[in-house]
Amino acid sequence: MPDAEGVQTGKQYHEDVPQETRGFFLKGGGSYDWGLKNRLARVFRPDTGRTVMLAVDHGYFQGPTTGLERIDLNIVPLIAECDALFCTRGILRSVVPPDTVQPVVLRASGGPSILKELSDEHIAMAMDDAVRLNAAGVGIQVFVGGAFESRSIRNMTRLVDEGLRAGMPVMGVTAVGKEMARDAKYFRLACRMIAELGAQYVKTYYVPEGFESVTASCPVPIVMAGGKKIGELEALEMAYNAVQRGAAGVDMGRNIFQSEAPRAMLRAVRETVHNNLKPEDALDLYETLKRDGS
Ligand code: 5RP
Repeated sequence: MPDAEGVQTGKQYHEDVPQETRGFFLKGGGSYDWGLKNRLARVFRPDTGRTVMLAVDHGYFQGPTTGLERIDLNIVPLIAECDALFCTRGILRSVVPPDTVQPVVLRASGGPSILKELSDEHIAMAMDDAVRLNAAGVGIQVFVGGAFESRSIRNMTRLVDEGLRAGMPVMGVTAVGKEMARDAKYFRLACRMIAELGAQYVKTYYVPEGFESVTASCPVPIVMAGGKKIGELEALEMAYNAVQRGAAGVDMGRNIFQSEAPRAMLRAVRETVHNNLKPEDALDLYETLKRDGS
């Protein structure tokens, strides 16, 4: 019998005791093979254990999103500032210069557009193409509680199996439907399922109440998703709180490329994530860089 609703009392997440990971700097990764570890070490900085991924994959289901109308003009000049780029293989081949040294994590799921049921996804690229493109990882939506929940889980486990054969880490993304709850209870469930079913890291949303229980109960690293555009200070606070409460970095899109000064915002997020810069100081840095024309 699954736990009934509300049987939450008595749970102990030991949020103040970090999970021990022998033999590798990333949570849960001690027993991975060399290729997996090496690819993960390209995305997550070994010196901080964290990453600032720049997410520009939105077009795979919503077309030319504001700020991504011309990735060649708006995004390519920013790539040098991030730790890893999260994009589709179509954008990679058509506009990202092949002499880019930043690692790339490829969006590997797709199918429905914003006009249809979003959870009706499939695996949308073969693992040998990710290897051919020298990807450092692949990412896939997982719709826990969605109409096609079971299929999206199956998509992810197939991708994980193929990834393990190729030494390619899989990032499982907790996809939240419009009408679904976005609270710690839901994200604990979704992140834990994604990790238990084999993804090497999880992208999920920040929640102000209980985020540390989401990171503590997930045995692999969590990167925070940015979500809809909010004010710069609010976005920096969210990134700061997420890493202070156990996230291993961020995978942010709209809050960077829809900012008035995307390069300045990306730098401020980097200082927040890697150097624990406080939100007010990060905002000052953003304003200064913006004034200086960044
Ligand atoms: C949706 C996704 C994205 O397409 C994208 O990466 C989201 O980035 P952001 O919310 O920061 O704009 O993964 O779940």
